[in-house]
Amino acid sequence: TENIYTLAIESSCDDTSAAVLLNDKVLSNIVARQSVHEEYGGVVPELASRAHQQNIVPVVDVALKKAGIRKNDLSCIAFTQGPGLMGSLLVGGSFAKSMSLALEIPLIAVNHMKAHILAHFIAEEGFDKPSFPFLALTISGGHTQIVKVNSFFDMEIIGETTDDAVGEAFDKSAKILGLPYPGGPLIDKFAQEGNPKAFPFTKPKVDGLNFSFSGLKTQILYFIQKKVAENPDFIEENKADICASIQYTIINILMDKLKEAVKQTGIKQIAIGGGVSANSGIRKTLKEAEKKYGWKTFIPKFEYTTDNAAMIGIVGYYNFLEHNFSHSDIVSKARIEF
Ligand code: KG4
Ligand code: ZN
Repeated sequence: TENIYTLAIESSCDDTSAAVLLNDKVLSNIVARQSVHEEYGGVVPELASRAHQQNIVPVVDVALKKAGIRKNDLSCIAFTQGPGLMGSLLVGGSFAKSMSLALEIPLIAVNHMKAHILAHFIAEEGFDKPSFPFLALTISGGHTQIVKVNSFFDMEIIGETTDDAVGEAFDKSAKILGLPYPGGPLIDKFAQEGNPKAFPFTKPKVDGLNFSFSGLKTQILYFIQKKVAENPDFIEENKADICASIQYTIINILMDKLKEAVKQTGIKQIAIGGGVSANSGIRKTLKEAEKKYGWKTFIPKFEYTTDNAAMIGIVGYYNFLEHNFSHSDIVSKARIEF
């Protein structure tokens, strides 16, 4: 059988990443995180683009070196076409195009959100791959979707957020508490010591399988403002309980919709993906749902939850097998249809 070596490049937001796969196995997965954004409380697109330009060559070099292969061994190059920040996408896209032209190997454009889902097909010891059809909950800083996955190439969004993404709900709540960006992982950390029922926040009423998180953010803001007016040390004294309560409410919102999606589709295989699937509370709740509801849940290896090129590579590999190649004039897209 043939050995397919895929070089994958991901540059949709603020992480520059390159990976090398041998068939469905990851040989290297290098991520250069950008810390320049921390002091701004969010990703600054112009700075992200510039940092990608500085990082891309060394990151690709390290990925090839760590995989122990040379450029000439590569079978194809996969890159993130979108969605994401235009200035960031263009850096990875231009690099991938030039390299595929220079090496005369196929170019494969990949949808970032589909890659978060298909990351489950990376061969990893101790991790099962879902079988089709399954439901995917993709939760990141930019997206919140429930997707019915019929095959590698046939996916259908059956629910999504009408306003903020769940990652934004975490990050904006964290900001209200005075935590640095991105605050999601910090809420997770403090929540582990807190009582999730200390402060009951109400869940929004949204029809069907769609989500809304902007009301929760406002609710938390008003609650904190009122409490701090009464006691300036309120946040410091209750940080763990506040974080646990926020996280608990968000998880309940997600679980309500997942239960509804299972009811509507009859599909009980649930895979999660995206940066927020690193959240320990979500992981625990989903594991418990296996016993509680008879679901089979798929939780990605930690390194494949936040943005990484390995997930782009696995999509590249399956497209390579089908000879789904892209032309070198393909354009990056900040927004992209499924
Ligand atoms: O997928 P991702 O790396 O980038 C996007 O495509 O958006 O997701 C980033 C998001 C951020 O909002 C970050 O706060 C959140 O994922 N996140 C978490 C955790 N780790 C990352 N949110 C809650 N708990 C975590 N442990
Ligand atoms: Zn992402």
